[in-house]
Amino acid sequence: EKLIIRDQLNRPLRDLRISVIDRCNFRCTYCMPAEKFGPDFAFLPKSELLTYEEIERLGKIFVGLGVEKIRLTGGEPLLRKDLPLLVKKLSDIEGLKDIGLTTNGVLLPKYAKELKAAGLLRVNISLDTLNSELFGQINGRGVGVETILEGIRAAQDAGLGVKINMVVKKGLNETEIVPMAKFCKEQGLQLRFIEYMDVGSTNGWKMDEVVTKREIYELLKEHYLLEPVDPDYFGEVAKRYRYEGTDVDVGFIPSVSESFCSSCTRARLSANGQIFTCLFNGEGHDIKEFMRRQDMTDEEIIERITGIWSGRKDRYSDERTEEGAKNRKKIEMSYIGG
Ligand code: GTP
Ligand code: 5AD
Ligand code: SF4
Ligand code: SF4
Repeated sequence: EKLIIRDQLNRPLRDLRISVIDRCNFRCTYCMPAEKFGPDFAFLPKSELLTYEEIERLGKIFVGLGVEKIRLTGGEPLLRKDLPLLVKKLSDIEGLKDIGLTTNGVLLPKYAKELKAAGLLRVNISLDTLNSELFGQINGRGVGVETILEGIRAAQDAGLGVKINMVVKKGLNETEIVPMAKFCKEQGLQLRFIEYMDVGSTNGWKMDEVVTKREIYELLKEHYLLEPVDPDYFGEVAKRYRYEGTDVDVGFIPSVSESFCSSCTRARLSANGQIFTCLFNGEGHDIKEFMRRQDMTDEEIIERITGIWSGRKDRYSDERTEEGAKNRKKIEMSYIGG
């Protein structure tokens, strides 16, 4: 039977985000800037990564503790060898209702069908502009937009649910807001505008580089009629609207201007087996070494995770200040997958 555990702010544990690798084939300027993540950067060695068996074991334990939804992230999760094998193990867990993947899309033409066959339901694909030159600059690798569009088509053809994530940063890609909305509306794709966040300590975030939900919404309203849509599930991070007269939604993830910590039911598991209770709390709790100790029973692991969740007080985005953003020990996005 299911144990419902709650944290200090009475929030249940519902979602688990699992980072399967800290590497990425992109160097997005706001996430893994090439100057900081150069050829000599020390990524995790393979021995440090949780094995698929370990992830499966933890997945089952988390589902037993109330998790209904698992999202695989990276870095770029499709760089992890044989990812469909992991998807299969996780999608077979009884009681799990949703399993998705967040990706830059480059490798979807190669893997979409296999992922779907393994039980994956949805992919969230990042795309910040339709302008190839700008996109090549943002991704730091000169990759053009067509590559991602092929990934999107492959996911659609495979029968996966698709959402598009667009991070909006002032002075970088605000001009792309309307073109992206138009394109996604025509393609029947759910687009979500993400407020630029102060994740990690390498992106040099400043408050005035954030384009707020309100600003984007006002801009869209000049072109489209929008009606609000109810959340799909408790704690959904996107606020969604529907283009009137269509069944296409557009969403906003206002992590900075309208934070959603009070309904944050997410735990994060890093590729090297640390549990993080907030995207902005750099204090990870080791579970890998703990689990690797001989004869560690499921009961002992359950007890440890319950202890970690019960002590959780995080509400970083509710309390964010520009000063605080500079002085805090945070985890890199590439290490925890957003
Ligand atoms: P679904 O709603 O299941 O489609 O997924 P999602 O939106 O939770 O996941 P996705 O990986 O697509 O994340 C979209 C954006 O929301 C990313 O920029 C994440 O960093 C951000 N995000 C997701 N969860 C949280 C959270 O708990 N706190 C904050 N501050 N941002 C989050
Ligand atoms: N702020 C907001 N979103 C970000 N992402 C990466 N870095 C940031 C940031 N600093 C997005 C990616 C991806 C999602 C998981 O998080 O573009 O879509
Ligand atoms: Fe870009 Fe995502 Fe890779 Fe970060 S993890 S560099 S946001 S593609
Ligand atoms: Fe959850 Fe932390 Fe994001 Fe708030 S800032 S919604 S507590 S992950």
